[in-house]
Amino acid sequence: MNRTPQLRRYNETGAPRPASARTYLSGATQLVSQSKQNSAVILGAQWGDEGKGKIVDVLSEKFDIVARYAGGHNAGHTVIIEGKKIALQLIPCGVLRPGCKGVIGNGVVLDPAAFLAEVKKLKDAGLPAHDPAAGQLFISNRAQVILPYHRMIELAAETAPGRQTIGTTRRGIGPAYEDKIHRNGLRVIDLLNPSLLRTHIHNACHEKNTIAHALFGTEPLDPKQMYEEYARLADQIAPFVTDTGELLNKALDAGQSVLFEGAQGALLDIDHGTYPYVTSSSSTAGGAVTGTGVGPTRIGTVIGVTKAYVTRVGEGPFPTEISDASGELLRARGKEFGAVTGRPRRCGWLDLPLLRYSNMINSTEWLVVTKMDVMDECDEIPVCTHYKIDGKLTDTIPADIRGFKSIVPQYTTLKGWKQPTQGITEYDKLPKLAQEYLEFIAKESSAKIGMISTGPDRIETMVQPGFDALLG
Ligand code: GDP
Ligand code: IMO
Ligand code: MG
Repeated sequence: MNRTPQLRRYNETGAPRPASARTYLSGATQLVSQSKQNSAVILGAQWGDEGKGKIVDVLSEKFDIVARYAGGHNAGHTVIIEGKKIALQLIPCGVLRPGCKGVIGNGVVLDPAAFLAEVKKLKDAGLPAHDPAAGQLFISNRAQVILPYHRMIELAAETAPGRQTIGTTRRGIGPAYEDKIHRNGLRVIDLLNPSLLRTHIHNACHEKNTIAHALFGTEPLDPKQMYEEYARLADQIAPFVTDTGELLNKALDAGQSVLFEGAQGALLDIDHGTYPYVTSSSSTAGGAVTGTGVGPTRIGTVIGVTKAYVTRVGEGPFPTEISDASGELLRARGKEFGAVTGRPRRCGWLDLPLLRYSNMINSTEWLVVTKMDVMDECDEIPVCTHYKIDGKLTDTIPADIRGFKSIVPQYTTLKGWKQPTQGITEYDKLPKLAQEYLEFIAKESSAKIGMISTGPDRIETMVQPGFDALLG
C-alpha cells in the first residue's frame, strides 16, 4: 500500500519517544507534555463526516494501535487508497495497514452482524485483519451489544406522531445506550455466555415488545429466533473479544503508540452538542478515556478534524447553513451524501464560534483542515466569525435550541482562490488566497493547523511543520 511520503513512523522500534520530540513546546507545557504517553485523540470538530476516516488512515502509519472509543455503525468513515474506496463503520480505519492493530473499545455499541459484515469487507479486500488468528483486530468484552429490539424501538419512536424527530441513522444506537445507562444492557462478555444470553433476550424482548406495542402498536419480535441468531453471531465474534482496556494500557506501558479514533463530532456529543439533536455517546475527547479504559494522563494530544466548510446530516440547528446555489455547489463538489444513509448532507460556511467551542471542550491542540479542494470554485468565501444574539455580539454557544434560533451569524468574506488545489501536497504550492484562508482559520480559532487535505485519497494530504515532530 502507498505510504504518505511526508510522514515518518513514530516509535518504529517500540522505544519510548525521546523528550526532544517535543521541543516545539516551551516552558512548563513542555515539562508536562514530556510525561505524556505516545498517544493522541483524533475527533470530529463539527457535526461528523469531517474526513476523520481519511486522516486516521494517513496517521495510522505512525501508530501501533488505533482504538475506536464511541458510537457504533451510525458512523461511516471512508478511506480511499490508490483510487480504491473502503468505508468502515465500526472497525477502526488503522487496520487497513497490516502493521497497525485495531481496537473497538468499551464505549462503542456493537451490532455483531454489522461487525461481521465489515470483517467480510476486509477479507474481500485481502486484508489480514479479518482473520482473528492475525491478532490485529480486537473487541472490548465490555462493549454494549445492539439487539433488534433497539432498532424496533428507535424506528417506532422516530416515526411516531407527536414525537420529536432527531433524524437518526435508525441503527438502534440511542436505545442501546439507553439500556447501558439504565443498567439493563447486554455486554459483549454476556453475549458469549449462552444461558445468560437466552435469559437476557427472553426478558428484554418481553419488556420491549410490551412497550413498543403499547406506545406505537409495533408487532412483537420473536425471542427464540433472536436467541438462535445471536448465539450464532456470538460464536463468530468470540475470537476477537478480549479485555481491551488491559491490552491498551499494557501496550502503552511497553512504549507503543495509540491513536484514539473518534466517531461523529463534537457538536453531536450527548453532553456538549446541540442537544437533543445529537447522538447518544461522548464523541468529545473525554469519551476516549471512558470509552477505552485509558486514563487522561496517558493522552498526549488532541487533534480536531474540521472541513473547510461545515455539513450536517439529520435535524437540528445549523446557524451558517446555506440556502442558495453555493450550498448546492459544495454538496456536488464535496459529494456530500451520507456514507451510512445516503441522505444529502446540509452544507454551510465555516462557523468559527462553533470551532472555538469545539477546541475549548476538547482541549484541541492541532486542527486538520479537510476538503480544501471542494472550495476551489467559490468566488467568495463567507466565514462566520461571531454570533449576534439579541443585538449583542457573542462567542458563547447557546445551551438550548431556542437560543440557536435567535443567532444572527456575523460573516467576514474572504476572496476565493478559483484555482484547482486537488492533490497539492506542499503548502507553498497552494494558491496564496488558499493559504490566507487557512491562516485566517488558525488565527481565529487559536489552534495550530497540523495537516491539510486536498482530496479524498490517502496521498492528497500535506503535513505542516511541527505536527510531524509532535508525532515523532
Ligand atoms: P468521517 O465520518 O469523518 O470519516 O467522514 P466521511 O468519510 O463520512 O466523509 C468524508 C468524505 O469526504 C469521504 O467521502 C471522504 O472520502 C471525503 N474526503 C475526505 N477528505 C477529503 C478532501 O480533502 N477532499 C475531498 N474532495 N474529499 C475528501
Ligand atoms: P461519522 O463518524 C454525521 C447524526 C445522525 C443524527 C444524529 C443522531 O461518520 O462522522 P444516531 O443514529 O447516532 O442516534 O443519530 O447524529 N450522526 C452522524 N452524522 N456523521 C456521523 O458519524 C454520525 N453519526 C450520527 O444523522 O442527526
Ligand atoms: Mg462519516
